[in-house]
Amino acid sequence: MTKRVAIFVSGGGSNMRALVEDMTGDHPGRACVVLSNNADAGGIAWAKARGIATEVVDHRPFQGDRTAFEGALSAAMARHRPDMICLAGFMRKLTGGFTDQWAGRMINIHPSLLPKYKGLHTHSRALDAGDTIHGCTVHEVTAALDDGPILGQAQLSINADDTPQTLAARVLTLEHQLYPAVLRRFAADDRTPVFLQG
Ligand code: GRF
Repeated sequence: MTKRVAIFVSGGGSNMRALVEDMTGDHPGRACVVLSNNADAGGIAWAKARGIATEVVDHRPFQGDRTAFEGALSAAMARHRPDMICLAGFMRKLTGGFTDQWAGRMINIHPSLLPKYKGLHTHSRALDAGDTIHGCTVHEVTAALDDGPILGQAQLSINADDTPQTLAARVLTLEHQLYPAVLRRFAADDRTPVFLQG
């Protein structure tokens, strides 16, 4: 049965676009809603233009009450009856209450080779550490930030002249290959990890 996929974005949503564009034909998933905490997210405009349902739940009025914010998110999302969630550049931390509810049904993309560099500024951290390889990871979401079983990784060699900006752009290109490849498997209940080389 086709899985109804909710996609959470906070910004431009280039990963969301890669996922949506792949969900055609015999793909086991279809986007049922694109949801954001930010009304100005470029991803919301893009999804609307494509005729995909969108929801915006601004986190700011909740003044740090994450549980209340997630309650509003859940209510907005429920209208679209999702079977699973893809986080795609969603910049809010989720509580254990929310992640437990979606355990085994929620995945995320992170721009590092986890378990290295959880959190922010992954590209400059990889450069500062003198790493020679870097990349991105898709993983199941658990209560711990950027943790959870790894479903796929894509890696590239760091160039001597890479800056955080060039590295981010190169990794983002890999993200657009990795995330759709993982979602295709995950939506078909196949958790065999995907490994790609950039
Ligand atoms: C990506 O690098 C993703 O890995 C990270 O945030 C960025 C989102 O980019 N979590 P986009 O909105 O998908 O273009």
